[in-house]
Amino acid sequence: MAVETSQSSDLTVTRNESKEANENPSQEFQDLIATLPTKLDKFGIELCQYQGFWFAKTRIKGILKCHKQFQARDSDIFLATSPKSGTTWIKALIFVITNRNTHNPTSTIINNNPHAFVPFLEHLLQDENTSNSSSFLSSSLPRILATHIPYVLLPEALKQSRLKMVYLGRNPKDLFVSYWHFMSKVKPESQGCRSLEDSFEEFCQGVSFYGPFWDQMLGYYKESLERPWKILFLTFEELKNDPVRTVKQLAEFIGYGFSQEEENGDVVDNILKLCSFENLSCLEVNRTESSPFGFENKLFFRCGEVGDWKNLLTVDMAKRIDSIIQEKLEKHGLKF
Ligand code: A3P
Repeated sequence: MAVETSQSSDLTVTRNESKEANENPSQEFQDLIATLPTKLDKFGIELCQYQGFWFAKTRIKGILKCHKQFQARDSDIFLATSPKSGTTWIKALIFVITNRNTHNPTSTIINNNPHAFVPFLEHLLQDENTSNSSSFLSSSLPRILATHIPYVLLPEALKQSRLKMVYLGRNPKDLFVSYWHFMSKVKPESQGCRSLEDSFEEFCQGVSFYGPFWDQMLGYYKESLERPWKILFLTFEELKNDPVRTVKQLAEFIGYGFSQEEENGDVVDNILKLCSFENLSCLEVNRTESSPFGFENKLFFRCGEVGDWKNLLTVDMAKRIDSIIQEKLEKHGLKF
């Protein structure tokens, strides 16, 4: 099941989206936006601070709609991430794991970018009038949805339901580097007004999409400790370093664990191969087609490695993020 929304990614705000928000804003959205602190980030995107987190201005509308309209089902599976922590990869994995015995997930993977079949909740509801969004939300199949919304701002219906959530975190140094490369390609026109140092400074001050990154991660991490039956906290690094164990843990948690027969065979290995960086990044759909977000699918695939930050960050930059990790995350037990 693929769903195409007309929304841009959170990392880009297309002309269409800005136009839509300006021409047809709900009064509530307009009133709220008028009261929020705003900032033009180093890539030239207008961010608003809402409840302590930074969002692209128009995304706040989607978040408000989630609160009002989202009807959770216990059978829903939710994936939460920070942008650039491997969302595309784990979307593919969850989709294939859950559909392996009922549909033919291979052809879906081959013909679609993972963002087309695992949509973001905040995009869908911002866009709820399109027939694709409505048919996805009303589908009788178990729904797999993603979100970047911080835990504290999730709709109550979602928090209260018995649905399962998986959070994928990533070492903040690689998170920043991935974000930087991505934004430099998505917003090349901002070349003149941003430098690596300026963007790094913003990131460390907590000004990035859905940031501060530490609060976004910590919200889910703490909740995963308090309600381990509801939220599984995984990391990009675990997936890379111990993929078989991590995928088995993921499958078990979302209620699609592997049978003994599957484990004895090559089912897990085949899923990992199908969703691997090497496979996904070489698919025609991901090499040549554009996403509904308004940029090429290939931008979701760069190198897919752990530790690539060493190729971009100076020793001082690395130390700066390490001290943030120590101060904000490690004291709560979250280590990278
Ligand atoms: P890098 O920029 O470090 O290469 P998101 O999907 O949240 O936007 O994250 C994008 C990051 O995940 C990019 O990291 C991208 O290369 C990496 N990625 C995408 N698909 C992957 C896969 N199948 N395996 C490993 N990493 C993957």
